[in-house]
Amino acid sequence: MISYSPAKIMKGVILAGGLATRLYPLTHATNKHLLPVYDKPMIYYPIQVLLKAGIDEILVVTGGPHAGDFIRVLQNGSDLGIKHLEYTYQTKPDGGIADALDMAKDFADGGPVAVILGDNTTDADISKGIKSFKDGALIFLKKVADPERYGVPVFDKTGKKILKIEEKPKVPKSDYAVTGLYVYDNSVFKIIKTLKLSERGQLEVTDINNAYLRKGALRWEELDGFWTDAGTPASLFKANMFWAVKKGVNLL
Ligand code: G1P
Repeated sequence: MISYSPAKIMKGVILAGGLATRLYPLTHATNKHLLPVYDKPMIYYPIQVLLKAGIDEILVVTGGPHAGDFIRVLQNGSDLGIKHLEYTYQTKPDGGIADALDMAKDFADGGPVAVILGDNTTDADISKGIKSFKDGALIFLKKVADPERYGVPVFDKTGKKILKIEEKPKVPKSDYAVTGLYVYDNSVFKIIKTLKLSERGQLEVTDINNAYLRKGALRWEELDGFWTDAGTPASLFKANMFWAVKKGVNLL
């Protein structure tokens, strides 16, 4: 008898926890990912990125004091076109991105996951990368003016091969940010178990990516479109400006 395991479909994970202290006082009354970005709550944008890439089974990992607010905004996701929406709660709100992703192990059910930070907004289409994904990890880079705020790749002389990724380096070795969009095979959950707390006391996504790099299993693509995070007052404002203008608002 031939035995086979059915191909696992790609599921999506949106990381929407944290305390967002950089946005106080805006985040005293609700979770950062529910703040407005022009005419929609911030989390709608990563949801759209996943749906556009054909991913309609989504887990929202949240945490902190306002986690219940998500249900009122997203309900069961059907109005947005989500086929299956789950929520889970990160008990350590400042545990880090890798700690939050660890909560998605059961949801992933042995398959790969497309992961997006809930405060990342982009109009890029990542469908191609998702559809051609086989194994290892795929990350998306974007040229930025302030790489020191992000994970930053260090390239070899060819400028094509990443040697390592540095988290918020004082002196960035390239102009690229590692954006908060990642595709991982299921070995990510084994990798997370090997991670140690960083200097800021968190399990870092950059350490996940460096573990894939060491195995020769990390690929990258440049994100084709606008991208920003929205975790600071300035970047939240920028995200609002971009989407308002894109939707036809004449700002001046
Ligand atoms: C996090 C990651 C960083 C990544 C950024 C993208 O930073 O640690 O590597 O470049 O998201 O938004 P944080 O939001 O924790 O400052």
